[in-house]
Amino acid sequence: MNILILYDTVFGNTKKIAESIADGFSAAKAKVRLIQANEAEPRDIADADLLVVGSPTRAFRPTAATMKALKDPLCTFTGKKFAAFDTRIDPEEIKSAFFRKIVTGFGCAADAIEKTLLKRGAVKIAEGHPFIVTGDQGSVLRKRETEIAFDWARTLLANAGSR
Ligand SMILES: Cc1cc2nc3c(=O)[nH]c(=O)nc-3n(C[C@H](O)[C@H](O)[C@H](O)COP(=O)(O)O)c2cc1C
Repeated sequence: MNILILYDTVFGNTKKIAESIADGFSAAKAKVRLIQANEAEPRDIADADLLVVGSPTRAFRPTAATMKALKDPLCTFTGKKFAAFDTRIDPEEIKSAFFRKIVTGFGCAADAIEKTLLKRGAVKIAEGHPFIVTGDQGSVLRKRETEIAFDWARTLLANAGSR
């Protein structure tokens, strides 16, 4: 199975998660490639049996580069197995109740990734996975998130095999 992890990042945290997921796939002897969203070519998507897409959540959405790659009319997603992940802040860490409500209510990157890929005929094999960043503007990954990402790869492999 050819696995493509398509990710974007601004501060580097989503890249670290993408790399940990890739390490998890490699440890299970699966063939995996990592590509940043702005470098993805239609052929990369075509060659993938399983697509794992991740983006930082910025203003409730994935990055523009992520959405551009997913909406590329030259790419075909019909029947393609996929799972989405994102990085985001933990609403519990937001002091203002007002902003907490906005952040929880307006959605996250993984939701928009899923919606876009489902609309294009791709097949979701797992629920979108959040990975939490903390600190000023979400600058540091929460402890253990990379280990959770590593383990998630095994779940994805099992789901991809059974669907
Ligand atoms: C301009 C900006 C907007 C952000 N908007 C959100 C948001 O709507 N929801 C959220 O959970 N986190 C938000 N964050 C925190 C980001 O999700 C966090 O910086 C990101 O996950 C870090 O990933 P990266 O290191 O790969 O860029 C925002 C951060 C910035 C700088």
